[in-house]
Amino acid sequence: MPTLGLGIDIGGSGIKGAPVDLGAGTFAAERVRIETPQPATPAAIAPVVAQVVEQLGEHLRGDEPIGITFPAVIQHGIARSAANVDESWIGTDAESLFSDALGRPVVVVNDADAAGFAEVTFGAAKGIHGVVLVTTLGTGIGSALIVDGRLVPNTELGHLEIGGHDAEKKAADSARERHDLSWQQWAKRLQRYYSHLEDLLWPDLIVVGGGVSKKHEKFLPLLDLRTPIVPAHLLNDAGIIGAASLAAQAAAKR
Ligand code: BGC
Repeated sequence: MPTLGLGIDIGGSGIKGAPVDLGAGTFAAERVRIETPQPATPAAIAPVVAQVVEQLGEHLRGDEPIGITFPAVIQHGIARSAANVDESWIGTDAESLFSDALGRPVVVVNDADAAGFAEVTFGAAKGIHGVVLVTTLGTGIGSALIVDGRLVPNTELGHLEIGGHDAEKKAADSARERHDLSWQQWAKRLQRYYSHLEDLLWPDLIVVGGGVSKKHEKFLPLLDLRTPIVPAHLLNDAGIIGAASLAAQAAAKR
């Protein structure tokens, strides 16, 4: 396995990248960030990803495995959904798009899958055997299901239908902000969401990520679940670290 990888995280507001120490699960140099172009179409995003890699050039040898996260279903490199991204992504071969832009092979993965894999490999769920469910609470709800260290990709559990609603529309952090919910009000929605999830999957551990997990003490203690539920450790770095690790894993299998 190589010791250095490169992770890139494509988000709604920024495209971030950093070299990743694959043994330690940490950034090997400072992160670079460029605003996400609007509209965030494939043609607009590809050159910005190339710019991020160029800006990191002095820290790279040029043969590191590259992993890129994207906030949609990514099936074998192809974007299949667009809940919170530009519709034109549906059907786009994201892996070909970015490898053409960079002139190097890349691996593209769902954002929550990358974050979840990082938490299991280096973070809050390190060393846990069995079924780990990682959820990210942000604009939407992302999910990652990892069983004995192996990722089951694209679980999309943010779109469970609960009470006739798409779960993320009610329980994502953006819903808390949009409706100006108190922590108690939001926790009620999270309670309904997570109890449904634990009844379906019986995970051994639930990890809660996304920016709001920094404020976990405001809402996690309000939840009453049978499954242990803990905040993520790697926070904003998880996507980059997980993407680089998944790319290294894929390269090792080739
Ligand atoms: C998307 C997922 C994504 C999640 C978090 C959801 O709306 O369907 O693919 O992981 O948002 O960004």
